[in-house]
Amino acid sequence: MNIQAPKGTRDILPLEIIKWRYIEGIIDKLCKYYGYRELRIPVFEYTELFQRGVGDTTDIVQKEMYTFEDKGGRSITLRPEGTAGVVRSYIQNGMASLPQPVKLYYNITAYRYENVQKGRYREFNQFGVEAFGADGPSIDVEIISILDDLFGKLGLKGIKLNINSLGCSECRKKYNKELVDYLRPKLKGLCHICNDRFERNPLRIIDCKEKKCGIILKDAPALADKLCDGCNEHFEGLKNGLVNLNINYNVDKNIVRGLDYYTRTVFEFVSENVGTQGTVCGGGRYDNLIVAFGGKPTPGIGFGLGMERLFMEIDSQGLVIPGNAETDIFVVSIGKKAELYTQKLVKQLRGKGVIAEKDHMGRSVRAQLKYANKLGAKYTVVIGDTEVESNKAVLKDMNTGEEKDVSLDSIPERMKT
Ligand code: HAM
Repeated sequence: MNIQAPKGTRDILPLEIIKWRYIEGIIDKLCKYYGYRELRIPVFEYTELFQRGVGDTTDIVQKEMYTFEDKGGRSITLRPEGTAGVVRSYIQNGMASLPQPVKLYYNITAYRYENVQKGRYREFNQFGVEAFGADGPSIDVEIISILDDLFGKLGLKGIKLNINSLGCSECRKKYNKELVDYLRPKLKGLCHICNDRFERNPLRIIDCKEKKCGIILKDAPALADKLCDGCNEHFEGLKNGLVNLNINYNVDKNIVRGLDYYTRTVFEFVSENVGTQGTVCGGGRYDNLIVAFGGKPTPGIGFGLGMERLFMEIDSQGLVIPGNAETDIFVVSIGKKAELYTQKLVKQLRGKGVIAEKDHMGRSVRAQLKYANKLGAKYTVVIGDTEVESNKAVLKDMNTGEEKDVSLDSIPERMKT
């Protein structure tokens, strides 16, 4: 067989799963403490949801979606992110009638047909949160604080928080006009992607990384300098809240984010350790999205954190994640009668919360003991006819070599003493 996993996908192997479970455990606990409840959304949605939500002019919708027609002739898309599906779910399930804010989190796979490189995959995992119904900056501060706590709990250092404000639709309309007027005479000096963006979505030109575009953009007007009074006050509120919680930030007027739904607060956590794909996490406010999907006017804010990028960060900082418990006890059996007895004994031990293993390969006693060693079993016990009849055996501590006579039903307790 020469079939490989599709480009941009990867297997998460059992030893890595230990790390994933550990991190997911921390995330679950943190979200619980912050009052965010888990939501599970479908892997695919109607294509229109993302066209309207993420935005028709974005790279994601234009180039990166996995879209197909199902057998009923409907256009379906594998979710390229979580926000659009969560917003749909909020509206469809009448969550507007719950006490606000409604605070949700999710751990999902997402799919984007991207140029694959370090930290950029076609199937990737996102931990995200979304909070609905609160328009003041206090909730913006809260969700950034979740990330600050997560990185703190993991012991990660040097992940920088950059924030910006994209204003409301009014600020944006005025600003777009100023930006277009500034750029129009300079179009020849911009790269071809920016020329294309100039027609579709001029705001996106701001975060172009091309050197020649950077020179032109240096003197371009910045949205954060053109905010209306309400948006300004909101942005100041965010900054004050971050200072209040001792969360360091930097205002980066070039953050515009690659999705169309953002208003006011946008932010990114970036690190130098994950290469060119330095953004570990991105998020922001989307106060007009719920209405765009047919819901009542409701503000919203959230973030998406790339789990693969988080692991790259963990690895590059050399953090050690506690391993899974190894085998507690290996039960060695001699002969047919003992084998049946062993089958029952390991079931009982597992029922009492002991990680118990036995042989399944017809190994000799010596080979069973060797295998127990390979599994890292903390204890072994050997069961033969005598042990079955007397209901007693010798429990051996594999670390110290110490042996104790025990009755078979007392094994779980005797392992502790
Ligand atoms: P995003 O910036 O497109 O935002 O993605 C969020 C994070 O997902 C990125 O910062 C990155 O860590 C990870 N990510 C994105 N694309 C890839 C990829 N191809 N391979 C690996 N990791 C990737 C969103 O998705 C928004 N839904 C975030 C949000 C939630 N805004 C408000 N609420």
